[in-house]
Amino acid sequence: MHCDILSLFPEVFEPYVKSSILGRAQSKGLLSLTLHNIRQYSQNKHLQVDDVSYGGGPGMVLKPEPIFRAVRAIAREQKSKRVILTTPQGQPFNQQLAQELAAEKYLLIICGRYEGVDERVAQELVTDEISIGDYVLTGGELPALVILDAITRLIPGVLGDETSAARDSFSEALLDYPHYTRPADYEGVHVPQVLLSGNHEQIRRWRRYQALKRTYQRRPELLKRLKLSDEDRELLTQIMGVNDRQVNI
Ligand code: ADE
Repeated sequence: MHCDILSLFPEVFEPYVKSSILGRAQSKGLLSLTLHNIRQYSQNKHLQVDDVSYGGGPGMVLKPEPIFRAVRAIAREQKSKRVILTTPQGQPFNQQLAQELAAEKYLLIICGRYEGVDERVAQELVTDEISIGDYVLTGGELPALVILDAITRLIPGVLGDETSAARDSFSEALLDYPHYTRPADYEGVHVPQVLLSGNHEQIRRWRRYQALKRTYQRRPELLKRLKLSDEDRELLTQIMGVNDRQVNI
């Protein structure tokens, strides 16, 4: 996948995209990234990219011309027309959207700033307005990194263990079960015995129980999206029937 990112602060991306999984995806040739500074596309003699809001009100608005010029210059050679704008007004980002975007060969992400972006950008250039949550950040750079990170780990070949993305929380509308590593006893707190048993069937069932229990307790609305197996129903009946403090098999 190739991704072009348009931002007023392209330098904030560099340390993160060079490290960890994003860095590895690039060295494996599975992801390439180009960072563009919106200011380079301003034709204003002061390289101005923002202006006051028509109708009044506080804060500045990103002007349309530099963004139109940038998108037209960058996207000219690209076939796919998936152009993302990060904005709190967008559709909520989730694992399903990450999966859909991970299947694209090309993405262009525009990072919003200030009070907003001139609406004609969303109207004429953008295919997807995306929000990463119901809170307001100072700019779209962190949302762009969140989106890029979530997408990159879903590109086939990026994660060493191909099954680990499929096992993620949310790939199945279910929160993940608890994980433990050595030591088996840390300051008197023990790893659940079943995980040390070597009995794969019991471990699988315990993990399923824990995942269902966490989802039921923390995000019950997710269970409505889950296709429940007979075993899930049986485990959920146990979970709902047991006082929280006793649920520890
Ligand atoms: N820009 C500012 N806040 C945002 C959010 N929550 N999601 C996406 N873009 C944003």
